[in-house]
Amino acid sequence: MTARELSVPGLAYGGDYNPEQWPEEVWAEDVRLMREAGVNMVSVNIFAWALLEPSQGSYDFSRLDRILGLLQENGIAADLATPTAAPPAWFFRAHPEALPVDKDGRTLSYGSRQTFCPSSPAYREAALRIARVLGERYADHPAVVMWHIHNEYGCHNGECYCDTSAAAFRVWLRKKYDDLAALNHAWGTTFWSQWYYDWDEIIPPRPTGAVPNPTHQLDWRRFCSDALLSLCEAERAVLLEAAPATPATTNFMVMYNFDKLDYWRWAPELDIVSNDHYLQSTDPESQIDIALSGDLVRSLAGGRPWLLMEHSTGAVNWQPVNRAKTAGELRRNALAHVAHGADGIAYFQWRAAKAGAEQWHSAMLPHAGTDSQIWRDVVQLGADLRALAEVRGSTGVAEVAVVWDWSSWWAVELPSQPSEEVRFQDLVRAWYEPLWRSGVAVDFVRPDADLSSYKLVLAPSLYLVDDEGAANLTGFAERGGVLAVGFHSGAVDENCHVRLGGYPGAFREALGVRTDELFPLLPGESLGLSDGGTAELWSERVALAGAEAVTSYTSGPLTGVPAVTRHTHGTGTAWYVATRPDPTTLASLLDRIREEAGVRPVRTTPEGVEAVLRRGPDADYLFLINHGDEEAEVEVAPQALELLTGKGLAEGGGPVRVAAGDVAVVREPR
Ligand code: GLA
Repeated sequence: MTARELSVPGLAYGGDYNPEQWPEEVWAEDVRLMREAGVNMVSVNIFAWALLEPSQGSYDFSRLDRILGLLQENGIAADLATPTAAPPAWFFRAHPEALPVDKDGRTLSYGSRQTFCPSSPAYREAALRIARVLGERYADHPAVVMWHIHNEYGCHNGECYCDTSAAAFRVWLRKKYDDLAALNHAWGTTFWSQWYYDWDEIIPPRPTGAVPNPTHQLDWRRFCSDALLSLCEAERAVLLEAAPATPATTNFMVMYNFDKLDYWRWAPELDIVSNDHYLQSTDPESQIDIALSGDLVRSLAGGRPWLLMEHSTGAVNWQPVNRAKTAGELRRNALAHVAHGADGIAYFQWRAAKAGAEQWHSAMLPHAGTDSQIWRDVVQLGADLRALAEVRGSTGVAEVAVVWDWSSWWAVELPSQPSEEVRFQDLVRAWYEPLWRSGVAVDFVRPDADLSSYKLVLAPSLYLVDDEGAANLTGFAERGGVLAVGFHSGAVDENCHVRLGGYPGAFREALGVRTDELFPLLPGESLGLSDGGTAELWSERVALAGAEAVTSYTSGPLTGVPAVTRHTHGTGTAWYVATRPDPTTLASLLDRIREEAGVRPVRTTPEGVEAVLRRGPDADYLFLINHGDEEAEVEVAPQALELLTGKGLAEGGGPVRVAAGDVAVVREPR
C-alpha cells in the first residue's frame, strides 16, 4: 500500500468551515479573510447531510460544488467530511428504530446530532450511501486533499443499549468466544447464577438490581468501541474505492473524560491521525493536558506527525462556566500542539455561529468581527505557522514510555473495585506531570509494544494486563531496562480474573514483592512516609520478596510496611510504587528513577518553561514555551536560528530569551 499523505505544503492551518450556516454573500468575505490569516486547509461538510440529501436518494450538491470551487479558486484545500455524524430528520422518521437507547432504557430523539444507534443497519446503509455518492463525486476535485470521516465518533453515542445493539453484541461475542462455555468461563458466570445456556439470553449490561458482571461490562465497552470502528472502516473502504490516493482521517478525542474508544485499535485504520483538544476551565495547568494529549496522539500515530483537527480560539460553550483564553494563550496552546508533533492546527470553527446550539462557542472569526483580539491572534498564528513550515515531518525523541491501555482503564473504573477513587487518567497525569516539568520527552505505548528504543518504562496504572503484555514489560526490565509500576497493576488478566497468589499479580516476581491485602485510603486520608512525604489514595501490605524498601509508612495500620520498592530483575531494575505519594515526593522519586535509567531532559529550563524537541533529518527543533511570568534564558546550540522571529542567535550558541508568556522555536543544526 502506498502511503497516502497530506498534500498541503508546510503546516496545515484552518478550521471547521460551515458556510451553510450563512448566506452566500458572506462566503467571499470568508475566503478573503482566510487568505489574510494564512489559512490553507478547512474542513467542510461535517454537518451538511440534511442539505445535501433533502430526501432519501435525492441529492443537491450545488452548494457544496460552489463551496469547493471557491476554496479551490482561493488556493485553500478542503478536508472534505462525510456528513454522517448528523443524519437528517427524514431519516429518523423513516427509521425510528435507528434512534439510540440510553442506559436507562430511554429512546433518545433526533433534533441534535450524533443520535443514532451505531449498530443500526438502516443507519449504516444510509451513511455508506451518502459517503459513496460524495466520494465518487469529489474523488478528483482539485480542492479535496483529505477525507474527514464522520466527526468525533462516539462523542454523544458511545453506547447504545437498544435491542439491535444487543443482537450486534451477541454477534461480536460469538466471534470472540465461538462457544458459549468459553464465554461463561471468561465471564465467571457461575457467580450469582449468571450462566448462559443460549446466546440469545445475553443482553447489554443494562441497569439491574445489583452490580452487573465485570467481564460482561468490559466486553461491552470493547464491543461499543468496535461497533463504531466498524462504521468508520466501512466508510473508509467506500472512500478508498472511490479515491484510492486520497488520505483519510477521523478526528479523535484524546482528552479528559472521553473514554469510549480504544484508539490503539482505531489509529492503524487511518492514513492520518487527527485529534480534537479542548481545555477544561477547571484545570489550572491545562498546558500539561495539551502536552500529554499531544504525546498520546503522536504515539497513536506510530510516532508520525498528526493533525490537531479542532481546538478553540477562546471559550467553549459546553462546560458549566466557559473560560476565555488569557493573553498569549491561543498562541501557546497552538504551538504546544505543534511541539508535541502536530503538522497542522485547526479550530472549531471558522466563523462564530449566530444561531444554533454552539452560538456561544468561540471561533477564528468572532462575533465581534476582525476588530478583536482573537482575530489578531489568529492572523499572528498564521504567520507563526508559516515561519515553522520546515518542522513538518519531524518527529519526537522520547526515551521514556508510559503504558496506556483502554481495556485496563475501563476495567479499573468498573463498579465494586477496592476504591472508586482510583481514576486511570488522574494517575497517568500525576506521573506525567513531573516528567513534563523536568522537560523529559515521553511516548505512550501499549503493554505489548516494542520497547527496545526506551530506557525507562512507566506503568502508572495497569490494573488489567494479559500474559503477553506482562511478559513484555517484565522482559524489558530483565534485559536491562528500568521499569516502574504503580499500585493495583497486574491485578487481573484480560478477562478481569484476579491473578492469584498475591498482588500485584503479573508483576509480583519482577518487582520482588508480594502483597496479601489492600488498604485503600479514604478521601482526605493520608499516611506519613519515611522519606518525609505523604501517601494518599492507596496503601497495601507489601512484603519484600527480593526487593528493597525505598520508602515505608510511618503512620497508620501499615507503619513500617514498604510503600515504594526497588528490585534488581535480570540486568535491569523494577520499581513498585504501592501508593500515590504527594506530588513533590512523586516528583523526586521519578527523578531518581529516571536518573538511574540515564534519561535526560531534552533541555534544562527555568521553571514554567516547557522544552520540547522535534527531530528533523538535518536539524532539531527546540520549542520553548514560557508559561511563566518572567523572561527566561535557555542555552541553545551554536548556529541556532529562532524561526518565529527569523533571528540568528549569538555565535557559539545561546542563550535564547523567551519573554513571559511567549514562545521560541529554535532550529539547531545537527
Ligand atoms: C466537538 C465537535 C465540534 C464542536 C466542538 C465544540 O469537538 O467536533 O463540532 O461541537 O466540539 O467544542
